[in-house]
Parts: sequence; structure tokens; C-alpha cells
Amino acid sequence: MLKNILYAQSGGVTPVINATACGVIETARKHRDRIGKVLAGKDGIIGILREELIDTSRESKGDIAALRHTPGGAFGSCRYKLKSIEESQREYARLVDVLRAHNIGYFFYNGGGDSADTAYKVSQISKKLGFPVQCIGVPKTIDNDLPITDTCPGFGSVAKYVAVSIMEASLDVESMASSSTKVFIMEVMGRHAGWIAAAGGLAQRAEGDPPHVILFPEVVFDEAAFLAKVKHAVEHHGYCSVVVSEGVHYPDGRFLAEAGSRDAFGHAQLGGAAPVVAELVRSALGYKYHWAVSDYLQRSARHIASATDVEQAYAVGQAAVKLALQGKNGVMPVIKRVSGDPYRWKIEEASLSRVANREKLMPRNFISKDGFGITSAARKYLEPLIRGESYPPYDKRGLPRYVRLKKNLVKKMLPEFKV
Ligand code: F6P
Repeated sequence: MLKNILYAQSGGVTPVINATACGVIETARKHRDRIGKVLAGKDGIIGILREELIDTSRESKGDIAALRHTPGGAFGSCRYKLKSIEESQREYARLVDVLRAHNIGYFFYNGGGDSADTAYKVSQISKKLGFPVQCIGVPKTIDNDLPITDTCPGFGSVAKYVAVSIMEASLDVESMASSSTKVFIMEVMGRHAGWIAAAGGLAQRAEGDPPHVILFPEVVFDEAAFLAKVKHAVEHHGYCSVVVSEGVHYPDGRFLAEAGSRDAFGHAQLGGAAPVVAELVRSALGYKYHWAVSDYLQRSARHIASATDVEQAYAVGQAAVKLALQGKNGVMPVIKRVSGDPYRWKIEEASLSRVANREKLMPRNFISKDGFGITSAARKYLEPLIRGESYPPYDKRGLPRYVRLKKNLVKKMLPEFKV
């Protein structure tokens, strides 16, 4: 009997994570002689432990194809930490029971750094627990902070959204500045890594163009230097446009945006740096401001996705199936930049042990000397990643035709399990 694939989405979703799912399912369907079904965990690994497995073979060809242009996580995602096999024996024993009951030979875990860690642990199941399963990590994260891979699927689209949004909002504030708003502040995600904030810099086409200030998590927040920069921009350009990363922190390590709660991995929930910065501007400089926290809007903005990103997201899904068919375990398909100009890339593989739990931050030479902008090296790296548009189809009402899958669960065979 042919072995099935079990695919799960994990961590924060991206505008293109479903393009990866589409790549996995369409490629597996082309290999019906070697692969059984693709099952998907409902809400990621939580659903797998609960034996809530979605049977993707019951979804139509058209609906699977539509995943390529649908944001969100079509099967549901989760933040759930699996400890080591030794520490979480009950959960791993359950995982093996589920894999055995549903004839799973391949486990694909589609996530970022924390998820690569989980995938690495699952890849050790064959050796440590004697159940044969090949585990392939499949990369995604809007934060772009996975090591080895040149970029992470999801990032290019968020980068495009941020660059386009700050460009557009800056035109707005520029028009209002003589008698009203002088400062616009846009907050973006990225946790400890400033890649998304840096992408805002792509909106500049000439010297003096907005955004005039970018605040990176890699640069400790210097209030006086920041205010001087804002004042200078208003005095020289009439207005100031700012991109602030949610991960910006004070010299003592406290985030400007700490919301108070933490997730299963111990990460602080961030969001709210923009109002903090705006209030500083008002109290110290007296300028009228507007601010926006792009939050989930940036993470779901499939309507302005980067075509390059969509293609890469699909390709890593496709590559995961190929790696599985080659008998690989404990690896992740990664994107390698073959050349910058013209931009060319290919897929390679990396060991999950080298990917797990490592954050790739912005290198210092990507941040300008004063700490408030990007360099030409950063621009060279970022530009190709937002290239091309990949608009979703629209319906008569003027809305994108996003798909909602049927998500039929396969019949449960095991006793209930509390997660
Ligand atoms: O997945 C990464 C990320 O998008 C971060 O940039 C952000 O801080 C975080 O997820 C938000 O996570 P959640 O949706 O679980 O609050």
C-alpha cells in the first residue's frame, strides 16, 4: 500500500503559505504511482495529535489550484511547542500512533524557525522510536529570519505590501503637511529581525524620498537621534514618513511595543510601537501625526503579492515532495540566489539541524551608518524579491475569488487524546 503524506502549517501564516500547500498537493497528485494521499493536520500539529486529519483528495482540482492565490492558512495553523522526544514521550507516542494508523510515510512541516525545530525532532522519530517516517521541513516566514535560505517564502509579498503602502501613505501626508498632518508612522512585523522594516526603504526612488526614517530592531532605539531626524525631515521636506519595526527596543532590551503576553515559544506578543513613537513626536516636537499598525493586514495581503514570492512558495512545496521521493529525512528545501542581476534562483536542500532555532538578522552593512535607513547592498538584496505582480482573480462584486476548502476529516481510528 502506498504511503501517505501528512502536511501541516505551523506558526504565523503568510500571504503565500497556501501556494506552498498547492505545490505539495499538485506535485503529489502527479506521483500517484508512488504516493497515496496528502492528508493535512487541522490547525497544524494540534490537529494531528487530536487525529483531526483533512483528506485533501476530497478537494477538487480547481479548489487546490485556487490555494495558489488564497491567503491565510487553508488548513489552520498553530503555535504549539513539541519538546524533545525524551521530555514529551506521551506526545511522541501519540504522534507515532497517528502516523501508523493513517499509513503516513512522509511528514511535511511548513513553518519558520520554531517549526524547523519541531520538524527536526520529528525527523528523529525513525531512529529513536523505530517508526519509519521521513520528515521534511518546508520554509515560510514573513520575518525572513531563517538561516541558509536566501529568502523565506512569505517575506517577498509582505515586503512588497510594506513598500507600496509606505509609498502611498507618504503621498497622502505630503499633500496634507502644509496645514495638517506632518508625520506618518507605519508599524511593521518582523520580531527581532528588521527585514520587513528594511523593505519599506524600497519605496525611495531618489534622495530625500520617503520613508525618511526606518527604525530597526537591530539598532537600539535612540530617542534624541530619532527626534532630531524627524525634525530635520519636516524642516527639509515639509513632512516625515517613518517605518517602525515592532521589534524596536530600548537600551535595556524592553520592546517599545511589548503587549504583555507570550506565546507557547516564550515570544513576547508585539504590536504598538507606532503609537509610542507617535506620542514621542507629539510631546517633543508638537507635530500632528497619524499612525498605522499594519499587523495582520501585511501578513494576509495576497492582493499585492510578489510574483517572485508566489513562485518560490510553490517551488518549495514541489521540492518537498521530490525530496521525500528521493528518500530524504531531516532536510528542508531552501532558496539559493544564483545571480543577482539578472535575478536567478534555484532550490537546494539544507539539514534541519542547521536551520532550527537560528535567527538571521539584518547584517550591519545593510543598515545605513546613522542607523535610520538601508544601504545599496540591502536594496540590491531586497529588490528582486518584490518583483512581479500575481493578482488573484476577482469576481463580479469586485472581490478576490479566495477559496475555502471543504476540509473533510478522515475517519478517526484512535481513542481521544487531550492536547
Ligand atoms: O510568524 C511571525 C510573525 O508574523 C511575527 O512577525 C509576529 O510578531 C508574530 O508572527 C505574530 O504572531 P501571532 O499571530 O501568533 O500573534
